[in-house]
Amino acid sequence: MKILVINGPNLNMLGKRESSLYGVKSLADIEVLIEEKARDLDVDVETFQSNSEGAIIDYLQEAASDAEGIVVNAGALTHYGLSLRDALVDSRLPIVEVHLSNIHARDEFRRQSVVADIAQGQIAGLGWRGYIFALEFLVGTLRQEG
Ligand code: DQA
Repeated sequence: MKILVINGPNLNMLGKRESSLYGVKSLADIEVLIEEKARDLDVDVETFQSNSEGAIIDYLQEAASDAEGIVVNAGALTHYGLSLRDALVDSRLPIVEVHLSNIHARDEFRRQSVVADIAQGQIAGLGWRGYIFALEFLVGTLRQEG
């Protein structure tokens, strides 16, 4: 079983950007933790980050066909990225939306997510652990662990 873990614009700057909101770990640190969890769960993960909506869409069109689920933090594209939303729908895969910060407790524009209604669920405000919980959830439900 392969799960895609996709990060959008500016998430390559984790560890350097607004650490009070996003934490001190870099994206590479978080990806190591995700890969460790994937090993525990005995699944494959493929991680991808881009600052460009088009590059994420190109990646999804390539990679979705041999994956079984998607964990996505679309960064600010969450709030307006309709092309990304369409590509996520076209993947026909179960999706969990992750945000490091609590997008509901910040600026008004961050409360709106174009991904939320096509996702199984959303994890926001739990920092890097959100990715781990999302992976556990997807693997558990794909394996029909109840
Ligand atoms: C974010 C929240 C977004 O509003 C913001 O644009 C990001 C990060 C988060 O993980 O909390 O880039 O997706």
